[in-house]
Amino acid sequence: MALRSALINVMAAASHKAARGLLRDFGEVEQLQVSKKGPADFVTAADIRAERIMLDELARARPNYGSLSEEGGITEGRESTRRWLVDPLDGTTNYLHGVPHFCISIGLEEDGQIVAGTIYDPLRNEMFWAEKGTGAYLNDRRLRVSARGELQDAIVATGVPHHGRPGHEPFLEQLSAVMKEVSGIRRLGSAALDLAYVAAGRYEGYWEAGLSPWDLAAGIIIVREAGGFVSDLSGGDTMLRSGDVIAANDSLHRQFVSVIGA
Ligand code: IPD
Ligand code: CA
Ligand code: CA
Repeated sequence: MALRSALINVMAAASHKAARGLLRDFGEVEQLQVSKKGPADFVTAADIRAERIMLDELARARPNYGSLSEEGGITEGRESTRRWLVDPLDGTTNYLHGVPHFCISIGLEEDGQIVAGTIYDPLRNEMFWAEKGTGAYLNDRRLRVSARGELQDAIVATGVPHHGRPGHEPFLEQLSAVMKEVSGIRRLGSAALDLAYVAAGRYEGYWEAGLSPWDLAAGIIIVREAGGFVSDLSGGDTMLRSGDVIAANDSLHRQFVSVIGA
């Protein structure tokens, strides 16, 4: 039985509270009021509400921490070294279309390092969580990345740049290199869940470019605490700045980086 710390309990409680509204609204997705934020990038009323609920909960429990969230941007905290990285709804396009695959992601950054993360899939009641040095878990079960050591046996996930997003040509080159090597490629539409699934051994790897810190923060620590590797596309550590990521199990990460960088 995994013993959650007070910190993880705070993050899980904020996620559960926001999830209630998200689930209710998902049931009525056709009636949701949507506002256009940019090309192919919609923000739902549910998304904004969920973020407000989460930030309020987190601030109540840890009043001095700052935050960086998708809708609210930066809020400076009295403790300048600690901040939440919050995505209240990762998988917005799925959500808007009634596709049941989305989640709530919270990372905690301390002195520039991610030290804790929760990724909650409310439809499956799956809470992925990790804290630095104490392992990664799915609900109460300890997580470990997959043991498959051959790319030809691997399933990997990715994100496909779409209308209004840059990086179409490089993505096609990466896809062309990866598809020749692996047993399957998935695009399920939630970067945070893609990372959680690598941690859970469901995928051997995942790569994507052009993400934001709130998409990645929680997943980085969860994959690492499950024994996996996370880097940028050239094997470096710039993920939170560059928005580019490759995550994989320990046996395949290096190979995966060389296929994508090739
Ligand atoms: C998106 C999802 C998607 C990824 C996009 C992200 P959002 O986040 O994680 O899988 O491909 O690049 O922006 O907009 O649903 O929070
Ligand atoms: Ca996101
Ligand atoms: Ca989002």
